[in-house]
Amino acid sequence: METTLKGQVALVTGGTKGIGKAIADKLSAKGAQVIVTARTAPESNTNGHHFIAADLTVPEHTEVITKEILEKYRRIDIIVNNAGANLSPGGGFNTLSDEDWYKDWELNFLSVVRINKALLPIMLEQKSGSIINISTGAAKQPIWEMTMSYSSAKAALNAYSKALASELGSKGIRVNVVSPGVVKTPLMMDFIENIATSSNITVDKAFQVVMDKVGVPLGRMAEPEEIANIVAFLVSSEAKYVTGTNYSVDGGASPTV
Ligand SMILES: NC(=O)c1ccc[n+]([C@@H]2O[C@H](COP(=O)([O-])OP(=O)(O)OC[C@H]3O[C@@H](n4cnc5c(N)ncnc54)[C@H](OP(=O)(O)O)[C@@H]3O)[C@@H](O)[C@H]2O)c1
Repeated sequence: METTLKGQVALVTGGTKGIGKAIADKLSAKGAQVIVTARTAPESNTNGHHFIAADLTVPEHTEVITKEILEKYRRIDIIVNNAGANLSPGGGFNTLSDEDWYKDWELNFLSVVRINKALLPIMLEQKSGSIINISTGAAKQPIWEMTMSYSSAKAALNAYSKALASELGSKGIRVNVVSPGVVKTPLMMDFIENIATSSNITVDKAFQVVMDKVGVPLGRMAEPEEIANIVAFLVSSEAKYVTGTNYSVDGGASPTV
């Protein structure tokens, strides 16, 4: 089975750090022309990714991304909606303001809807394409004191992705979700440091609190590359009969079948 992505154009949002960078590097290594977006340009860009500066919470920036991709490549084969973050403070329902809820939903849900809506006409014209939406295990297993609004937004992303897969299957476009558990990235390290500061405990202790809370049978966090491997499989022709799924890559953390 041919697994090269040569000749394919791939967009990875948030492709400058953490999971997104690992995905961008992996798709690039498999031969794709990779476009990465983020608010800040990466310090080094050794893999020749095409960088577009964009804040996905600003609707007009989606137009900037679409215009640049269309003008330069005239096609899009793979969209990995990876940019996302838990933007709200912990503490449960009473600590969350309307603004906190909007911020989490804007980045983790609406921005994905916008990117897909802007680029799908190109995929529909091509009659082919593969979309991966990066969710989280916390969408199915929310931690009330840490992830209430973030989990809710990502759960909406899961439902939207399933609906989109059903709508687009007959048009040659596959849509899948990848749900990481805990992954060693700058985002996760910030999250742990914030817990340490707000709970007045050491970073090591905060790390243990997170690991105990999530409960990871494999006993460690994932490396970003371990998420990228699944994404690379799902966008490849080896997975051409796979759509509408939600792959947990969580070291066994999900407690349900
Ligand atoms: N790390 C984990 O344990 C974990 C677990 C489950 C799910 N996830 C999900 O995996 C995805 C990646 O997480 P990560 O841990 O790799 O995050 P990360 O290390 O913080 O990287 C996030 C990337 O997204 C970009 N980004 C952030 N906000 C943005 C915005 N408003 N507009 C455009 N780009 C933005 C960042 O660049 P700039 O800051 O320069 O914009 C960066 O490139 C997210 O969707 C997250 O919810 C992560």
